Order: sequence, then structure tokens, then C-alpha cells
Amino acid sequence: MKKIVWKLLLTAGLLFGALTFSAQKLYVGTNAEFEPFEYLKDGEITGFDMELIAEIGKIIGKEIEIKNIAFDGLLPALQTKKLDIVIAGMTATDERKKSVNFSDTYYLAKQLIVLNKEANTGIKTFDDLPGKTVGVVLGYTGDIAVSEIKGVNVIRYNGTGEAIMALKAKKVDAVVLDSEPAVKYAGQNPELITLETDAAKEEYAIAFRKEDTELLKAVNGALKTLQDNGTYRKLLEKYGLVKE
Ligand code: ARG
Repeated sequence: MKKIVWKLLLTAGLLFGALTFSAQKLYVGTNAEFEPFEYLKDGEITGFDMELIAEIGKIIGKEIEIKNIAFDGLLPALQTKKLDIVIAGMTATDERKKSVNFSDTYYLAKQLIVLNKEANTGIKTFDDLPGKTVGVVLGYTGDIAVSEIKGVNVIRYNGTGEAIMALKAKKVDAVVLDSEPAVKYAGQNPELITLETDAAKEEYAIAFRKEDTELLKAVNGALKTLQDNGTYRKLLEKYGLVKE
């Protein structure tokens, strides 16, 4: 009899331990096609966001497990609890704020136009896009912005790399993409250039389920700590994200 009780206690204890341990783990969603924020280097996911979330994890005492999925699948996976948070150079748009909460802003960006120098498209500003074929990535804010311009033939790609490939192959006249990845891709492909634009500033932030307010508070606290102790600045420098 006693033996059975002990066994039961032991199983209960193990189960409890496993449960509390799993709660210590944060499933973090990203889409690693967004250099310098998240990208694959020698098969490993790296980048500013990845180091930032690792530092946040240390402060709030959570183990971080990164899940790399398609960008437009990130918020649905967060809602259905397959992910606990999302860090993906994600812009905190009003539309997204209807379904998720965002942390404090950790970076400001905007949309740029990427062109292939070898093609004479005559594109100089967003006003020149009507009548043109423009590549965007499905669900990115660039997709939303270009889709709002009347008369543009919008081609939606599943990933950043695919959109850039299409531009290199002159399948599209331009690609509209966030400033930092746009500059990175142009730097890596001599035939590509970026056009400065007057597009609105976009605020990158970490996304949470609406009900996870404690976690949101803890992460904002950690962000503040990292800003105060200089870690955040060091990471910006490391990834070439300091703007002055
Ligand atoms: N900032 C844009 C957005 O929120 C693009 C983000 C793409 N991020 C990524 N990791 N692929 O829609």
C-alpha cells in the first residue's frame, strides 16, 4: 500500500515538475529571412532580434526556443498557442493591434523601393508604381502599402529571398521592402539599388497574446534594463543598425 502511495506521489511530483519546467520555456516565433534582424548563417538562426530575445530570456528567467516559420503564419500560430511570443522585425500596426499586444518599440524602420539597375523602369517614388509590376512578401507591411496603391500589379512572394530573386531576374520592376533588409540585399547584389522614400516610420515590436499581460510587462522591463545597461546599443552596433 505504502509503495503505491509513494509511486503516486513520485509520478505527481514528476508531472508537476515537468509542467512547471515547460512553463519556463518560451516558444518564440520568427521568420529568418530578414537580415540583419533574423537570418540563417551556416544553418543557424542569428541576428539582432535573436540576440535581443536571448538577453530578454536571461533577465526574465525563461529558456528560449526559436521556431522559424512563414511570416504570415506567425500571428495565427501565436493565437493558437503554438508560439508564446513573436519577434520578427514585426511592425506594430493598428490592424495587428486588434488581435495581439505589442511590447515597447525596439526599432524604427520604413519601406524602401528596391530596383534592378539593369532595368530602365523610370521609378523614382511610390507615385511611379501604378502601371508597374511590383514584388512584395506576403503579409509584410510592404504588401499592405503597395496593395493600397491603385493600378499596381502586385506579385506576392512567400519569402524575402524569393521576391529579391524575382527582381534580379527582372520578373518584377521593383520590390518594396523594409529599409534594413532592403539595404542588405542591395549590398549583396551589385545589380540592385535602393531608393530612399518618404514612407511613414514603422515601429518594430514583440507580439504577445492579448491575455499574456504579465509576460508583456516582464519583457518591457527587460527591454528597459537592456537599454539602460548598454546591451541594446551594443547589439545595434554589432548588426550595423546605429543610424547617426
Ligand atoms: N516589418 C514588416 C512587417 O511587419 C516585415 C517584417 C518581416 N519580418 C521577417 N522576419 N520576415 O510586416
